[in-house]
Amino acid sequence: MTSSSNLIDGRAIAAQVLEELRPRLERLRTRGVQPGLAFVRVGEDPASRVYVGRKEKTAAELGIRSHTHVLPEATPESELLALLDRLNRDDSWHGILVQAPLPRHIRAERIYAAIRPDKDVDGFHPVNMGRLLLGDPGGFVPCTPAGIQELLVRAGISWEGAHVVILGRGNIVGKPLAALLCQKAPRANATVTLCHSATRNLAEHCRRADILVAAMGVPEFVRADMVRPGAVVVDVGVNRVADPARPGGTRLVGDVAFAEVQPLAGRITPNPGGVGPMTIAMLMHNTVRAAETLTA
Ligand code: GUN
Repeated sequence: MTSSSNLIDGRAIAAQVLEELRPRLERLRTRGVQPGLAFVRVGEDPASRVYVGRKEKTAAELGIRSHTHVLPEATPESELLALLDRLNRDDSWHGILVQAPLPRHIRAERIYAAIRPDKDVDGFHPVNMGRLLLGDPGGFVPCTPAGIQELLVRAGISWEGAHVVILGRGNIVGKPLAALLCQKAPRANATVTLCHSATRNLAEHCRRADILVAAMGVPEFVRADMVRPGAVVVDVGVNRVADPARPGGTRLVGDVAFAEVQPLAGRITPNPGGVGPMTIAMLMHNTVRAAETLTA
């Protein structure tokens, strides 16, 4: 298939998710509640600037109040912890998000553990990660895994009984996605294989996938010979690579060699326009839920 008919439109599906939040936001408004989402960005990582900017813009479009605290790269861990303590105590902030990656001198696990679990709209706090592993729906699910689940469900693709091969075991995508999809629950119930840098015969695992999720952060790693014809391919990667032909000397590519994989995939997420918008939509979803719960 060479037409665009096998594309999964993440922008359109994310827009649907956001539209469905509007009545909930309206109900909060009639109770005098405007959800508040506090962002924290440490340093000037160009990609993080772009991501937080997009999250702020979507929040503003929905009428969610937001503010971004931008801290210098050299900020001591103790200062970041002190800011989180203030945000935890301030009732006007229902969600708190510290953008990853953090500078090396800051211990990310200490930071994520310092956010109140009921304001942890990123779902990175150990309590929320634990709830996810236990299948407790009361926790917050990290936004990219939640977005991938939602995206395929709404595209009419079932996870039920499917063999899902995930490439990458990171704490933001691979590991929580594996935990989410293996749950004995509707919209899950998949057989999950989690592959990583030490996996032997990786291409063989990939070829056995009904649904292949590439989230390891290696430019165009997934080639045509790793994909069973008809398989669903989800590309989570965002990698900047050198391209002297481009004005800035670089371009963005996913973890999937899109041009050669798209023709043989059953369905495939474009990149950009696939997973990225879903991550933001699920963040807004988690924030609305946090505001509802905290003000109930
Ligand atoms: N960096 C890449 N993805 C994410 C995310 O979902 N949340 C945060 N906080 N940082 C990220």
